[in-house]
Amino acid sequence: MKAVQFDEVGGPEVLELRDIEQPMPGPGEVRVRVAASAFNAADNGMRAGFLPIPIALPHVPGYDVSGTVDALGEGVHELEIGDAVIGFLPMEHDGGAAEYVVAPAESLVHAPTSIPLADAAALPSVSLTAWQALFDAGRLERGQRVLIVGAGGVVGKYAIQLATRAGVQVIATASPRSLEAVRAAGAGQIIDHTATELLDALDGRVDVLLNLAPIEPDQFAAYVATVRDGGLVVSTTAFMTTPGDESRDVAARTVFVLPNRDRLAAVVSLVDEGALTVEVTRRIALAELPDLHEEAARGRIAGKVIVLP
Ligand SMILES: NC(=O)c1ccc[n+]([C@@H]2O[C@H](COP(=O)([O-])OP(=O)(O)OC[C@H]3O[C@@H](n4cnc5c(N)ncnc54)[C@H](OP(=O)(O)O)[C@@H]3O)[C@@H](O)[C@H]2O)c1
Repeated sequence: MKAVQFDEVGGPEVLELRDIEQPMPGPGEVRVRVAASAFNAADNGMRAGFLPIPIALPHVPGYDVSGTVDALGEGVHELEIGDAVIGFLPMEHDGGAAEYVVAPAESLVHAPTSIPLADAAALPSVSLTAWQALFDAGRLERGQRVLIVGAGGVVGKYAIQLATRAGVQVIATASPRSLEAVRAAGAGQIIDHTATELLDALDGRVDVLLNLAPIEPDQFAAYVATVRDGGLVVSTTAFMTTPGDESRDVAARTVFVLPNRDRLAAVVSLVDEGALTVEVTRRIALAELPDLHEEAARGRIAGKVIVLP
């Protein structure tokens, strides 16, 4: 089968499109005929060797995946051949930048039926990141207020939709290119951080500040003033320290997304109910994945890119 693989960590040039042996599912695993995998910034970090994730080499990237179950390992009863599935696969395992991938059955859920199966690869880890940031790390409840910095990105738009649906009031920062998308996702107040000073534009403090943007540490520290006493600062930008304020009992939480099958199934239901929109910005072929990593190494990739085998 065709797969993109690397033998050693390094620059985007370590990625090669190859013919490799089709994997066989072991006990508790299934083989999935891949409809698509998604590209995430962490794929870049794992290939470059920046992230402390113990991958075995050679490695196939692409831990967010959608496809059709095509072989069952021993002891798998909850899935059948032909089932359309999505999953956030264990990051240290081979991913879905291939024609087939073997996955633990417990990492997969039935795919949404209301969107194309390939597009559903865009959903798993980013929607779980948004959920965990808001409700696990942030402990947000109905009636509370969250300020989302960097709300116009992939995680941000899921976070706005999930928060508003849970009765949480969302104040979002967005630059002009993202204003419309942030409004459409349901943000109650939008602050254009390129034209307005956030601290001046905010009317009262929030329960939770959720940062999703690569802001400067000084700026992040200044934004802690937006949080009420006893509130929380949550961040997914794990490459920098999340600031808090002990003197006011404002705690700092950094999110490292974890697979969660029940949550992912709940997210799929929200997609099928029309409560959550899945956005795909670009669809590329497997052979183009090395170039995409090259592009990501040069700067930010806007939106969600899926990779079609
Ligand atoms: N820790 C984890 O487990 C985990 C999981 C998933 C993602 N992440 C990380 O979480 C972050 C968000 O992910 P994402 O996929 O949503 O990224 P993204 O699509 O690149 O979105 C980030 C947003 O940040 C905004 N931004 C950039 N510079 C800004 C500034 N100076 N001030 C305010 N906003 C600014 C941009 O907003 P505009 O569009 O308005 O310009 C952009 O839309 C990324 O760093 C990602 O790597 C972490």
